[in-house]
Formats: sequence, structure tokens, C-alpha cells
Amino acid sequence: MASSAKTAAPKATATKKAAPAAKSAAARSTSSTGRSTSSANAGKGAGSNAAVDIQPRLNQQQNAPSPTQRYGTVSQRLPIGLSEPTRRDSVTMLNQLLADTITLRDMYKKHHWQVVGPTFYQLHLLFDKHYEEQAVLVDAIAERIQILGGVAVAMAHDVAELSSIPRVPRDREEAPVQVSRLLDGHQRILKNCHDYADKADEAGDDGTNDLIVSQLVRTNEMQVWFVAEHVVDSPLTQAE
Ligand SMILES: [Fe+2]
Repeated sequence: MASSAKTAAPKATATKKAAPAAKSAAARSTSSTGRSTSSANAGKGAGSNAAVDIQPRLNQQQNAPSPTQRYGTVSQRLPIGLSEPTRRDSVTMLNQLLADTITLRDMYKKHHWQVVGPTFYQLHLLFDKHYEEQAVLVDAIAERIQILGGVAVAMAHDVAELSSIPRVPRDREEAPVQVSRLLDGHQRILKNCHDYADKADEAGDDGTNDLIVSQLVRTNEMQVWFVAEHVVDSPLTQAE
């Protein structure tokens, strides 16, 4: 692989150098004939358009320049009327909520696949519904982070490092254990939500406060209700 990449490099350089010449040729073609290059070449057969190199420039990550923005910074300033310290604090809080919400979302899908027992069908459907709702929250949190000028945590290994939800075993577990793990995850997120909503409110970050209260708190509380009612100790066939 390394040798083929090396041999491919001069070709890419040659293509780069050829591009301006091709552009100027296109410009000449347009100015002298009044027709675009592509329409001028249309009758010359397939592959005759010299202005377009159809070879994708692959493997650009191998010699990547420095990132456009480092994680943990709030370097972009959109005109949203919030100070840098406020945006930085909100981004930190939201990345914690994002890592925990991604974890809870994925726990729902795991339990959707692995659930077993007499409540299989309803839990199978319910867990997937909650997974979809958590996925909506994930997107809303991540996009709020970007609006504030931060960088949203995204990949599984980074999420695992940041999340406050304890690691879930790979094994298949009984439904009540699954439910208990989900309820614990919800509670951790909700406790942080109440704390962070207050802080965002005090700092004047109304958008973050509204996201946390209107979407995160409401959705998580509703899901807690639907999940927790499954682990009530209730006789199935006989009233006592
Ligand atoms: Fe499914």
C-alpha cells in the first residue's frame, strides 16, 4: 500500500499543476466561441473534457494539515449575543450531556436487539422508539454545540471516555436488568440537566437552557415513566 501511495503522489501533483492551464484553456474557449467548454466538447466523444479530472483525490487524511478547529475550543464566533466564557461553559456542559445521551441511545438499541422473555414484543418496540427519540436529542445537542462555536464529541471511543454512564457488559441480560440500567442512565442525565439548566439560565444562555428543559428533561422524564412501569412487582393472572 505504501509503495502504491508513493507512486500515486507524482500523478496527483501533475494533475494539480495541470489544473490552471486547463482552466485558462476553458476561459479561452468560452471567450473565442461564446460556448462553454463542456458544450464545445460534447460532440467529441466520451472522456474528452480536459477541464474535469474525474479521478477523486483519495487519502488526503494521510498528510492532513492541522485541524480546522481543535476539540475543547470555542474559536468560532457566530453573532448570537453570548460572551466567550458563557459559550465555553455551555459547550462543556453540552458535551457531557451529548456523551451520555449517545451512550443511552446506544444502550437502547443494544437492549432492543437482546431483550428476551414474556415482555419481548412490547419492550422490543419500546426500546427502539426510545432509541429514535434519543437520536433526535443527540443531533439537537451536537448542533447547539456547533452554534455556540464549540466542537461536538462524536466518535465511540471519545464518547466512552467522556460518558458518566457506567460501561454496560457485552452480555445479554434479563429484561429487568436492562430496564434498571436504562433508568440509571436516565437519572444521571436528568440530574445533570437540572444543574446545567440552572447554570445556563444564570449565564443568560437561553437557547441552551431551553434545549435542556424543553427537549432533554421532557423526553427523558417521559421515557423514565414508560420504562419504569415495567419493573413494578405485579401479579400477571390473579388479583389479590
Ligand atoms: Fe430493529
